[in-house]
Amino acid sequence: MYWYLPWAWTLSFWEEWLRPADTVAEPLAADDVEWAAALHSQAFSQPWSGDEFAALLSQRGTFGYVVRRSGAVRPLGVVLARLAAGEAEILTIVVDKAARGKGFGRLLMDNTLQHLHAERAESLFLEVEETNAPALKLYRHLRFEEVGRRPAYYTAPDGTKQNALILKRTLGPS
Ligand SMILES: CC(C)(COP(=O)(O)OP(=O)(O)OC[C@H]1O[C@@H](n2cnc3c(N)ncnc32)[C@H](O)[C@@H]1OP(=O)(O)O)[C@@H](O)C(=O)NCCC(=O)NCCS
Repeated sequence: MYWYLPWAWTLSFWEEWLRPADTVAEPLAADDVEWAAALHSQAFSQPWSGDEFAALLSQRGTFGYVVRRSGAVRPLGVVLARLAAGEAEILTIVVDKAARGKGFGRLLMDNTLQHLHAERAESLFLEVEETNAPALKLYRHLRFEEVGRRPAYYTAPDGTKQNALILKRTLGPS
């Protein structure tokens, strides 16, 4: 995704170097959906089943990626996104609790952005809880900007309400 910015090539090189060398990102496949559901259940109070992942994945314009150790069956993270009429959205992204903070989220987002550039998509949207610091850090580094806010959109397991932020990343050479 960095072909158009020389400094970003350098950044990309160091990210590759720092990330465990045996990590690969691959398109989300039918064999991955039960693993994806297991990862989803680690992070969300209303987890999606393997069947729900499969149903979403079969829809036109929906695609995803997993990250895993090279040769391993079990993914360490998954992202699912949808593209329609030039506008894309992240449906979900989650990294295994034990593998967070190692660049896997960034790798999933980089692959998603690369895919969208290849498809000549114009923009990528997502919703994120206002208090989700790791996710917000990831998105801000990727130049997402806040374009909206849904008050009291999420309900935490303890019943408290959290605002959702709507973030947008404009795509294309910039
Ligand atoms: C959001 C999530 C996918 C990020 O994945 P990850 O593999 O941990 O992210 P990365 O290692 O690529 O780190 C991305 C940035 O977040 C930062 N970060 C990671 N964990 C963090 C934490 N606990 N607190 C603050 N920042 C954190 C990293 O330092 C990195 O910033 P940097 O580029 O300045 O170093 C992961 O935390 C997750 O699965 N969370 C639960 C599900 C979720 O909230 N999904 C997003 C819903 S919108």
